Amino acid sequence: MSAVHDSGDSALWRRLIISLGRLLGLTISDNRTPLASQLAREEARQAEVQALLDALVSGLPDPVVLLGKYERVVAFNAGAIALAPAMRRGDPASISLRMPELVEAIREARAGGKQQRVEFAERVADRTFEAFVSPIALANDAMILITLHDLSPIRRVEDMRADFIANVSHELRTPLATLAGFIETLQGPARDDTAARERFLGIMQGQAWRMARLIDDLLSLSRIELRAHMRPDTPVDIVSIVRQVADGLQTLARDRGVAIEVTAPAEPLTVLGDRDELLRLFENLIENATKYGASGGKVEVTIASGEAQDGRGEARVAVRDHGPGIAAEHLPRLTERFYRVDVGESRALGGTGLGLALVKHILNRHQGRLAIESKVGEGATFTVRLPRPAV
Ligand SMILES: Nc1ncnc2c1ncn2[C@@H]1O[C@H](COP(=O)(O)OP(=O)(O)OP(=O)(O)O)[C@@H](O)[C@H]1O
Ligand SMILES: [Mg+2]
Repeated sequence: MSAVHDSGDSALWRRLIISLGRLLGLTISDNRTPLASQLAREEARQAEVQALLDALVSGLPDPVVLLGKYERVVAFNAGAIALAPAMRRGDPASISLRMPELVEAIREARAGGKQQRVEFAERVADRTFEAFVSPIALANDAMILITLHDLSPIRRVEDMRADFIANVSHELRTPLATLAGFIETLQGPARDDTAARERFLGIMQGQAWRMARLIDDLLSLSRIELRAHMRPDTPVDIVSIVRQVADGLQTLARDRGVAIEVTAPAEPLTVLGDRDELLRLFENLIENATKYGASGGKVEVTIASGEAQDGRGEARVAVRDHGPGIAAEHLPRLTERFYRVDVGESRALGGTGLGLALVKHILNRHQGRLAIESKVGEGATFTVRLPRPAV
C-alpha cells in the first residue's frame, strides 16, 4: 500500500466536508481521525447538549421554547406543551406555535437581533400571555429563546381591585348624597320645621349607621383574611353561640313577623373557634333568613353533631327559611363581596352584600364549609359544617 498524498481533488473534498460539517454544527479539526468516529463523538456531544437543554428548560416554571437553525424547535418544557400540544422537536416554529403575534416577533428578533415582547390572547383557555423572544448569538450559530408568562391571574386581580373600589365607592356614594341633601334642606327650607327636622335627623342617622357598618364589615373582612392561616384554638360551644344570636335577633324577627325556632342538643357542642367571628357568622345567616325569607313566617335553626366524610366529628348548623328562595344561577356567586340577588331589597333592609363573604372567610379560617340549597318558591337552607376536635 502506498501512502496517500493529498491530491488537489482530496484537498477540495476535505474542505467541502469541513464546510458541510460546520454547516451541520460539527467541528472537524483533526484530519487524522476517521470521519465515522468523529461523527459518533459529535453525535454523543450533541446528545449531551440536548439532554442539558431539556433539563434546563424543564426546570423552568413558565412555558419555554428554544429554537435553533431555521426556527426549528430544539427544546421545550411541559408548560409549552400545555399551550401548544402538537409541538415536536425539529418542527418549524411557525407550525408548532400557531400564534401569529409570536411568529412575527420571532421573525423580528432574528432580523434585528433584539429581544421582542408581545402579548397575545390564547383563545381556547381564554388566557392572556406575554412572550419574550430573545435572540442568543453563538460562535457560529444563533438560537432564539421564547419565554411565556400567563398574565391572566394578574389581570383578574387587577379587575377585582377595580371592581372592589367601584363597589365601595358606589355603596358610600348613596348614603353620602342622602346626607348632603338633608343637610342642605335643614339649612334652608326646613330650618324652622321641628317635625321635619326630627324625621330628617332619623334618616341621616340611619345613613351614617349604614356607612359605619360598611367600613366595619370591610375592616373585619381584611382582618379575617390576614389571619386566614391561623386556625383558632379556643374551645367554644356552638349551642350557646347560636342561642345568643337568635336572642339578639328577636326584635328584628318581631318586626318582620318571623318566629325563630332553635332546635339543639341539651349538652354543649364544642368546636375550636373564635367566638366573635362565629357570632358574626350565625348572625348573618339567621338575619338573612329573617330578612329575605320573612314571607315564610318561620326560620328553623337546627344544631346537631355528625360525622364528616373523613370520619371525623363535626358540628352542623342548618338555617332554614320558607321565603321566596334563591334561583340556581345565583347560588355559586352569593359569597362574592357585594353580590346581591336584589340590590334594591338588600339596600332597603340595610344590607351591603358583604355578609356571606364574611361567612365564607370565617369558615375558611375554621376549616369549615358552607352548603346552600334552595328552590325558588320553597325557601333556602344554609348549612354550616365545623370540624370538632378529636377527643
Ligand atoms: N335566606 C335567603 N333567602 C333569599 N335570599 C337570600 C338569603 N340569604 C341571602 N340572600 C341573598 O344573598 C344576598 C347576599 O347576602 P349577604 O348576607 O352577603 O348580603 P346582604 O344581606 O345583602 O348584606 P349584609 O349581609 O352585608 O347586610 C342577599 O342580598 C340576598 O339577595
Ligand atoms: Mg346579610
